[in-house]
Amino acid sequence: MKVVGNIAEVRDARAAFGDLGLVATMGFLHEGHLSLIRRAKAECGQVAVSLFVNPTQFAPHEDFARYPRAMDRDLALIEQAGGDLVFNPSVAEIYPAGFDTRVEVGAAARRLEGAVRPVHFAGVATVVTKLFNIIQPTRAYFGQKDAQQCVVIKTLVRDLNLPLEVVIGATVREADGLAMSSRNSYLTREQRANAPALYVALQSVEALHAAGERDAETLRKALRERLAHIPNTRIDYVSVADPDTLEELDQVTRGALVSLAVRFGATRLLDNVVLGA
Ligand code: PAJ
Repeated sequence: MKVVGNIAEVRDARAAFGDLGLVATMGFLHEGHLSLIRRAKAECGQVAVSLFVNPTQFAPHEDFARYPRAMDRDLALIEQAGGDLVFNPSVAEIYPAGFDTRVEVGAAARRLEGAVRPVHFAGVATVVTKLFNIIQPTRAYFGQKDAQQCVVIKTLVRDLNLPLEVVIGATVREADGLAMSSRNSYLTREQRANAPALYVALQSVEALHAAGERDAETLRKALRERLAHIPNTRIDYVSVADPDTLEELDQVTRGALVSLAVRFGATRLLDNVVLGA
């Protein structure tokens, strides 16, 4: 496995591969990331992983400085998962002095997370575009855990005719149902004990839908009521939206993305499920 930090070297290394999968990450890897790496390896034959905590997707008051980092452990995990190439650039390598361009996706990036974190998706879209251009993967793998990020990246790839395929991997969960996230490490013991209630609430919406409920506002209301019982939390949003445009639905006709963001103290947790039609 080759580990490189600068753009010229990663381009050189990439040139030796044919089909190449890319898994872009901010490190502090868990089974969610590793499932994407293993899938990319199986489907592409070779896989590159980027490790870069991207400052432009954090607002000034957010957790960039304290975002968890564990480079040596990450490299060992990537190697075990079959990684061929790791790109771990410095901030100056990605954003040198004079850097002055931004990639901004429209309506889909302004809803949900975008409404709470206004600069977030421009930061994601910009760094992902750069990573695509630097590494030139055949396929890029993203996790359904961050459903809106998947929509934003698919939109960007389509609209800018980027020559790669976007593949979405299923959300990987802890045994108690909590969606894996590097940010789970911020939770206190009590918050961690309460956090599985998010997925329980989403499953109750799945059950209502399976029983025939199609009115989106009824589903949102049921979800809010379930979440309201979790102690010491605040709901940022609940949503029952079109899975491609993220527009809020009136009726669940051809499927829906049910998503939520809930604050446990200063830690925001996201989760979602997709309802069939
Ligand atoms: P990060 O949060 O490190 O996540 C990297 C990738 O792993 C993303 O595609 C994310 O959706 C996926 N992932 C995270 N938790 C997962 C889980 N429990 N199950 C399945 N997949 C999961 O997302 C980012 O980094 C950044 O925004 C990035 C795309 C790297 C741009 O900076």
